Amino acid sequence: MISGHGNIETAVEATKIGAYYFIEKPIDLDKILLITNRALEQLSLERENIALRQHFEQKYEMIGKSTAMEEIRQQIEAAAPSNGRVLICGENGTGKELVARAIHTLSKRKMKPFVEVNCAAIPEDLIESELFGHEKGAFSGATSRKIGKFELAHGGTIFLDEVGDMSLKTQAKVLRVLEEQKIERVGGTVTKTIDVRVIAASNKALEKEIEKGNFREDLYYRLNVIPMEVPPLRARKEDIALLCNYYLHYFCRENRKRKKKFSAEALESLISCKWSGNIRELKNVIERLVIMIPHDKIDIDDLPQTYKKQVEYSETAALEPDLFNGESLKTARENFERSFIIEKLKENNWNISKTAESLKVERSNLHRKMKLLGISTTKEE
Ligand SMILES: Nc1ncnc2c1ncn2[C@@H]1O[C@H](COP(=O)(O)OP(=O)(O)O)[C@@H](O)[C@H]1O
Ligand SMILES: [Mg+2]
Repeated sequence: MISGHGNIETAVEATKIGAYYFIEKPIDLDKILLITNRALEQLSLERENIALRQHFEQKYEMIGKSTAMEEIRQQIEAAAPSNGRVLICGENGTGKELVARAIHTLSKRKMKPFVEVNCAAIPEDLIESELFGHEKGAFSGATSRKIGKFELAHGGTIFLDEVGDMSLKTQAKVLRVLEEQKIERVGGTVTKTIDVRVIAASNKALEKEIEKGNFREDLYYRLNVIPMEVPPLRARKEDIALLCNYYLHYFCRENRKRKKKFSAEALESLISCKWSGNIRELKNVIERLVIMIPHDKIDIDDLPQTYKKQVEYSETAALEPDLFNGESLKTARENFERSFIIEKLKENNWNISKTAESLKVERSNLHRKMKLLGISTTKEE
């Protein structure tokens, strides 16, 4: 804003309604250039910030159309606007952190920090100072003041991951913070009131830990106002193909590779896997495939051995025919081919890929041939 009638009020008014700067006449061109450049710089920073936020949100996108996933989404939407504490349970890699972030992002606290604490990764003697901070000189090694995670999360959300791994001593301290909404830095004398929403997660069944005396029951009830259970991947098989394709595109983009595709067989094989490491395991496998497989179509043979479907071909289903009983050359040839293929399958422990290799044919050709010859397959599981 440039004006010849500058006074403080108009300057304040102008900046209030959006002016970056207020310049009085007479105009100093150098000053205008300087300020315009600064304003442009700020604008580009703001744009970058928006782009980063979007990228960040994309990074935490939740994929899945299964009923289980839909239920989780509904629970997240219901819980998010409140300040209620949430306890998220589920196996490793099921997406507990993702759920916690989603709750924060949909809450009124979304512009405030989301602070994660991995209780399992912090050594026992450091966790107190990590959570509550410390004053300079509070203990040997405390060379400067440190702000704790609870304080950093003020106004926002703190995510206590693997809360079942906290020692009983730390549990007692956390319980006090939850009860009083106040913290005190280690070695400090002042207490600070804090406003923090607590979301906790555990891969252990905390009820069992209570029985064993490893987890405080009173803390459990404090944390478990809104319980959420994230199901393992094998309990929502419908989501596996979606996740595979999502992460295939994701890692192709990330690694600047051409778009890849899974063959139907490869996808089927991935769907039938156990995935005991859940989505974390799936993500790693797909990233590995994107990096290691040069061609665009990922087939079952490209999968690491443990992810190839264990198909078992029943021997009884393919009774060996009498070789000389064929009426025409065609049936005779088919009879021979059938016997020969079955023989080779046996040699290779009914593994199609290996058999195809020893027969020097494409795996898909062998598959087609077996179908044609009625060498039937029975799948495991
Ligand atoms: N529904 C989902 N859609 C897409 N990615 C997911 C989903 N759930 C989990 N992930 C990804 O899997 C990985 C493990 O998730 P995380 O939340 O850290 O699991 P946990 O905390 O339960 O061990 C993360 O990289 C996360 O982005
Ligand atoms: Mg986790």
